[in-house]
Amino acid sequence: MAGRIPQSFIDDLVARTDIVELIKRRVPALRKAGRDYQACCPFHDERTPSFTVSPDKQFYHCFGCGAHGTAISFLMEYERLGFRDAVEELAQMAGLEVPGDGRAGDHGPDPSPLLAILAEAASLYRRQLSDHPTAGRARDYLSQRGLTEEVLTRFDIGYAPPGWSFLLDRLGQRQTDRDGLHAAGLVVDQDGRRYDRFRDRIMFPIRDQRGRVIGFGGRAIGDEKPKYLNSPETPVFHKGRELYGLYEASQARDEFPLLVVEGYLDAIALAQFGLPRVVATLGTATTPDHLRRLLRNTSELVFCFDGDRAGREAAWKALQTALPHAGGQQPIRFLFLPDGEDPDTLIRGIGRDAFEQRLAGSQLLSDFLFQHLTSQVDLGTREGRARLDSLAKPLIERIPNGTFKQLLSEELANRVGLRSVRTAPAAPRRQRIRPTKTPTLTPTRLAIALILHQPDLADEARRMPDDWRTLENPGTALLARLLETLDRYPHSTMASLAERWRDTEDGQYLGRLCDPTLIEHIPSDGFAAELRGAIQLLNRQARELETQRLFDRGRPSQWSEADKERIRRGLLARD
Ligand code: UTP
Ligand code: MN
Repeated sequence: MAGRIPQSFIDDLVARTDIVELIKRRVPALRKAGRDYQACCPFHDERTPSFTVSPDKQFYHCFGCGAHGTAISFLMEYERLGFRDAVEELAQMAGLEVPGDGRAGDHGPDPSPLLAILAEAASLYRRQLSDHPTAGRARDYLSQRGLTEEVLTRFDIGYAPPGWSFLLDRLGQRQTDRDGLHAAGLVVDQDGRRYDRFRDRIMFPIRDQRGRVIGFGGRAIGDEKPKYLNSPETPVFHKGRELYGLYEASQARDEFPLLVVEGYLDAIALAQFGLPRVVATLGTATTPDHLRRLLRNTSELVFCFDGDRAGREAAWKALQTALPHAGGQQPIRFLFLPDGEDPDTLIRGIGRDAFEQRLAGSQLLSDFLFQHLTSQVDLGTREGRARLDSLAKPLIERIPNGTFKQLLSEELANRVGLRSVRTAPAAPRRQRIRPTKTPTLTPTRLAIALILHQPDLADEARRMPDDWRTLENPGTALLARLLETLDRYPHSTMASLAERWRDTEDGQYLGRLCDPTLIEHIPSDGFAAELRGAIQLLNRQARELETQRLFDRGRPSQWSEADKERIRRGLLARD
């Protein structure tokens, strides 16, 4: 089985993840209500909160639509990730390495040799910036651009010396090393000759979200062309997925919006001026992959674009990419810069405070959407208004179902001059959502539900007679396995138990029993007594069944000694 993740790792991951924090980042309205947290459900439309997150159980549950699960399930549902990706995502947040890992690793060769080469190259380049005889020009250039020593260190900026074989000479002793350098995109292979890709350039290491160097951008020091040379696509570097500065940005607290800029030096300048949550796209337009990654790391996003035509066009493209991710929960904004400025020149010109003021005044996605479209039509005519309708509708259609989409539709209707009619409530955002089907509470189900909600009750169950184990039905078998698991992993939570049974038939059954409404009639100090009651019932049932079986086999005179012993035990058994 390719890359199966060990259960112990999942246990650890679930234990280290704070589900409240994870969800709050995506559902900022989440508020404390008693022991739990509540908000309007992100998975269906509602006006009063029925979505609950329990920090004790590390589990969420919606009383409205029945959505429920662990931190992993939440990411899978909310971000539409696969299991593996959701685990990767949480692992990265927890600073853990998924065993048997590699996002590329599952499908391709082990990326670690490439990463080792890239790390080595980065450290060589960094040393050259201070040591190499020709590095003076690079250092002068950087200081003339206003970069401080501190920020050079923070971004690990280096220098690739001139000449064709600086890296090859140092890291390419053996054939396999040279092949590695080539695979890492550091040397070019042309007409049978190999030479360093980056020569006489200022080097910006590009890191992945875990801080590992996966590629480089190299800037010419003067006016040489091309101004920037970037690593080519390699097994570890994909321009359309990575964002320069994301590692550094995700180290900073989520108290500022995450800014998206176009250039390496824009990201660095803003960080230098105390706006550490900045990333730069790598010379590509914003991709859906970028968007997902960005929104996973922030509760608010601001795109910075030039105010000129090209900038506005790029912004419009970014808006279109963002629509399927714009649920209104994480505001997305657009900051248009004055002509001829980029974030680097602007913040150096006006300073941090004035820059932040502009950020605060940046345009919300919905405003940009209407403003951009209305500027193309004449709202004074019916024709113009109809045109607005036909331009805006397909765009609004791409927004996830929910209140935000509804509001935009209403606003469109208003602007077009159609009376805003509230149509039937929007369809739930998730197709899989079904009305909660409450299972009938048999004693077995009750026992399982109670233990799921309060795993330390397993002790209580263990102290009792266990005739119930002879009841041969799937429920009691599962109860037995549940107790056995809790014996081995006494610190399990509802979440880790649910994860253990993920993707099994029993898992779906357990999932339904995680529903807190099943046991809401029981006060929490009555759980133990309820559990004892349920097990007593099961034990009685088991003994009655046993007696019945014996009677079915024949008259008491035909019973064996063992049979009699069983009957005796059954009759004398305490509950
Ligand atoms: P800019 O030319 O706007 O970059 O290109 P910048 O950061 O402001 O450059 P400076 O201030 O002159 O140093 C924006 C981004 O586009 C990509 C790079 O990722 C760059 O940061 N780009 C630009 C290239 O890949 N190649 C180029 O030749 C130019
Ligand atoms: Mn610039």
